[in-house]
Amino acid sequence: MRQILFCIVLICSCIQFTPSKKGNNVIEKTLYGKLPDGRAVYQYTLMNKSGTTMKVINFGAIVTSLAVPDRNGKYDDVVTGYDSLQGYMDGSSYFGAIVGRYGNRIGKGQFALEGKKYQVTVNDGENHLHGGKIGFNKELWTANTVQGSAGQSLQLTYISKDGEEGYPGKVTLSVTYTLTDKNELRIVYKGTTDKTTILNPTHHSYFNLSGSFNNTILDHLLTIEADSITQVDKGLITTGKYLDVTNTPMDFRTQIAIGARINDKFEQLIFGKGYDHNWAIRNYLKGKVRKAAELYEPKSGRVMTVYTDQPGLQFYSGNFLDGTAKGKGGSYQHRTGLCLEAQCFPDSPNKPEFPTVTLKPGETYEQTTIYQFSTK
Ligand code: BGC
Repeated sequence: MRQILFCIVLICSCIQFTPSKKGNNVIEKTLYGKLPDGRAVYQYTLMNKSGTTMKVINFGAIVTSLAVPDRNGKYDDVVTGYDSLQGYMDGSSYFGAIVGRYGNRIGKGQFALEGKKYQVTVNDGENHLHGGKIGFNKELWTANTVQGSAGQSLQLTYISKDGEEGYPGKVTLSVTYTLTDKNELRIVYKGTTDKTTILNPTHHSYFNLSGSFNNTILDHLLTIEADSITQVDKGLITTGKYLDVTNTPMDFRTQIAIGARINDKFEQLIFGKGYDHNWAIRNYLKGKVRKAAELYEPKSGRVMTVYTDQPGLQFYSGNFLDGTAKGKGGSYQHRTGLCLEAQCFPDSPNKPEFPTVTLKPGETYEQTTIYQFSTK
């Protein structure tokens, strides 16, 4: 009798503490690697009730894999990634990372705040890109699991020092990743500062919904809820003008294949070497989440719908992937992954006509962006 009771207790405790194959929203933590200074990097596995799995490391708050079902229930990884920490340390493509302090470009890396001029790192031609030489994507974050209504979430926090990459103020940014049972990856950002600064973080996963990174993303069908883009010059710095998408290859108001017009001799596409522009998503109202884009891969049936409260969505068609980045999907060739990055408009610190990215002491930066996966 005693033995039977013991067995029952043992079985019950296993059910309670071991994440089942189909997840119960419990996060598993494993050692992923060590930084040269000895600090440990951990990988966190999130799995929801339907079996969708996401892996995140606390280096760069990077999503290293995200396996979602196709229309037949077959799970495939839909994000690019390296196969080791070294790849993420050396890589220059921002795979899966949280990019900051400023996602996207700042002209000549210069801006002024309250009458004071600042120079941040120039790391993209003559401009600043994605936080500089060592952006948030190359830093170690502190990870905590937090209990929410949708199960456990992973909260990652990074404290960026005053003066880091030239930015003023000590910024504390927390990013909470939740994998909901509706197959949504919800990303909630909250940031504070001790001096007036700028903050415009974004998430930089490269998606390919086909199930294989040997396929390009050119057959993916895309819709973007925007009537204009922020026009850029040849250094991809915004001119301050909005460009109406009507009768241009930038018009994604009705579903169309990414490859249909990507090589058109259209000046904006020539500057971007493909799509690398910011779409001004309709109905921007601070704090209001609305649909921004829908990506559909017809062969697998996978759909990814993007919702955000941000003014803009950078659609980058992987134009700079050229086979040199090697990872879990082999070598990533031209246009085998695409980014849909929610953020404020590029070079906004120098464009008073754009929504602001200025953050002052006592204020809280907030962003909510959702990547929702389904099939049709
Ligand atoms: C930018 C590209 C840049 C890429 C780097 C994207 O967000 O828009 O211009 O080359 O990031 O991976």
